[in-house]
Amino acid sequence: MRTQVGIIGAGPAGLMLSHLLHRQGIESVVIDNRSRADIEATIRAGVLEQGTVDLLSDLGVGERMRREGAVHHGIELRFAGRGHRIDLYGLTGGKAITVYAQHEVIKDLVAARLAGGGTIVFDAQDVSVHELDRTAPVIRYRHGGGAWGLECDFVAGCDGFHGICRAAIPQSERKEFSRVYPFGWFGILTRAPPSSRELIYAHHQRGFALVSTRSPDIQRLYFQCDPHDEVGNWSDERIWAEFRAWLATHDGWAPREGPVIQKNIVAMRSFVCETMRYGRLFLAGDAAHIVPPTGAKGLNLAVADVRVLAQALTGFYADGRHDLLDAYPETALRRIWRAEHFSWWMTSMLHRFPGNDPFQERLQLAELGYVTSSRAKATTLAENYVGLPFE
Ligand code: FAD
Ligand code: DHB
Repeated sequence: MRTQVGIIGAGPAGLMLSHLLHRQGIESVVIDNRSRADIEATIRAGVLEQGTVDLLSDLGVGERMRREGAVHHGIELRFAGRGHRIDLYGLTGGKAITVYAQHEVIKDLVAARLAGGGTIVFDAQDVSVHELDRTAPVIRYRHGGGAWGLECDFVAGCDGFHGICRAAIPQSERKEFSRVYPFGWFGILTRAPPSSRELIYAHHQRGFALVSTRSPDIQRLYFQCDPHDEVGNWSDERIWAEFRAWLATHDGWAPREGPVIQKNIVAMRSFVCETMRYGRLFLAGDAAHIVPPTGAKGLNLAVADVRVLAQALTGFYADGRHDLLDAYPETALRRIWRAEHFSWWMTSMLHRFPGNDPFQERLQLAELGYVTSSRAKATTLAENYVGLPFE
């Protein structure tokens, strides 16, 4: 078997890349080790930047997102028992975010790619990459009882943080940076009406909480937790007691409660592998970098990477250019480090760190007070949150 670009991973990065290449007449095959049902049911991110929304629409896969997604023009920062609105729309000259679940994006991308004649191999086993430093790298995998070899011009490693592509780059060649946070997020889905028209990022002495949404009937909420905790330790009553306490305001606001229909714990880390190219292998998305979820950047950054990579591959196939491929890591890393900084900053400002002393707490409140009273500082938050323009 042969294709031009072999893509490992059918997450947002891999599927978007496959669409972007198809639009330029470049062939690709996407290979994932999970089933289609599993991929389409995994609950993850929910906030799409304006640029991600525009790109999905350009690619002709934005119809359901426009119908079912919710456009939000602001967010609330809540601390010391009071809410403060950040007017994203007004501060950025008319940009907004769209709340539309990642697995819905995945469903739309998979359906459109298959309808367009694309090949996505689900349930592949023992995926491995070979000959990366040659002109014809090979992806090997087992599928349907047989062993397969896919010869490609290039391999796109879009296989997430725990994938095999980054690990295929010799350790001695990899330049990596990492920070692990001493807390995680406990996420729930609840069957209840929305508690708020816009997302609420709440700082409380005891920890961080976030109120988000999925639909008029299903809500997504998170609170800071011990990353080693287990969901089984948390009854619905205990979960709602935390939300009530951490989200309380002086004027008696309370979340709309309902049955908890899904619970999960997400660990939090910042990570960048600057070696995003090794021979004919290119890393994109979580395979190359991780951000803590506080800035809602993970999915959007994956999309931004493959936008740059698709342009570089187009330059190669259309005009024989190598310069854009050579520049891919440097170009992508400018946005990646900006998003790393923004996500770290939001995380630091809003969470309770173990051992937080009153001095630290006062500094966080001073920062929150400044962000919500200075137009300059609020604009910094707003333009990063809705997504900086593409280069
Ligand atoms: P992924 O979505 O991870 O896709 C990688 C794909 O590669 C997967 O489908 C996987 O099955 C496949 N794969 C892995 N290994 C192999 C292999 N060996 N062979 C073949 N295929 C392989 N971001 C936010 O902004 N907000 C959130 O609330 C949030 N929650 C998250 C919760 C979890 C549990 C996780 C893991 C991430 C979360 N993120 C969140 C981050 C966001 O979802 C990711 O940044 C985004 O999914 C990155 O897309 P990706 O395509 O790079 O990688
Ligand atoms: C959601 C996730 C985030 O990480 C975030 O910052 C905002 C919203 C969500 O899942 O809805």
